[in-house]
Amino acid sequence: MEIVQNPADMYAWSKNQARAGKTVGLVPTMGFFHEGHLSLMRKAAELCDLVVVSLFVNPTQFGPNEDLEKYPRDFERDLALVRQEKVAAVFAPRPDTMYLPGYQTEVSVKELATHLCGKSRPVHFAGVATVVTKLFNVVQPDVAVFGEKDFQQLAVIRRMVKDLNIPVRIIGHPIVREADGLAMSSRNAYLDPANRRAALSLSTGLAKVRELAAEGERSVAALAKMLEKYIHSFQGTAIDYASFVHADTLELMDIVDEKTVLALAVHIDGKVRLIDNGYVLP
Ligand code: PAF
Repeated sequence: MEIVQNPADMYAWSKNQARAGKTVGLVPTMGFFHEGHLSLMRKAAELCDLVVVSLFVNPTQFGPNEDLEKYPRDFERDLALVRQEKVAAVFAPRPDTMYLPGYQTEVSVKELATHLCGKSRPVHFAGVATVVTKLFNVVQPDVAVFGEKDFQQLAVIRRMVKDLNIPVRIIGHPIVREADGLAMSSRNAYLDPANRRAALSLSTGLAKVRELAAEGERSVAALAKMLEKYIHSFQGTAIDYASFVHADTLELMDIVDEKTVLALAVHIDGKVRLIDNGYVLP
């Protein structure tokens, strides 16, 4: 497995593979791997001849008071995990090689980035869209695989690829969960045992909404009322949003139908902000 730090070397590597007729699948990550990341790598390996994993904690997608500095990092552990997968190269650039002095260009997906996480994280999606564009330019993948846990991110990237004619096939991969239902996330590393229990309010809240909907409840107002009460019954939880949105446009819905996704962001103990999502109807 190659470990590539320099964007120019990564580009040259990818060009050589393309000349040899190999297809490349990219899994963009910020590291601190868990089973969710590994499942994205396996999906990419199913679809392409070679898998490249990018490992870069992208500073431009963090707001001034967010967790850039303390975002969990363990490069050696990540390398050990990735070596057990069918990964041909890890691209781990230094921030100063991705953002050169005088850097002043960004990609922003206007409308989709204003909903949900965009409200409390106003710079986040421009940072994501910009770095993903840069990763696509450097790695030149045929396919890129993203987790569906970051539901809005996936919608933003799909839109961006369509709008800018970027020739990369975007694949969404289902959320991987712990045995008790908690969606896997690098930020779960921040949770102490009490907060870990409170974190379950997201996945169990989603399950409760699905139960009520299965019994015939279609009113978003009724489902949201039950859900808010339920999540707040867990100590230390504060809802950032619990929104019933259209899967493609992310617009708020009043009545549940087969396109309705419940998207959740909940602060746990004022320290950790977790997200989860899922279709309300089967
Ligand atoms: O989902 C992530 O880990 C990041 O937002 C991504 C796509 C790697 C861009 O930095």
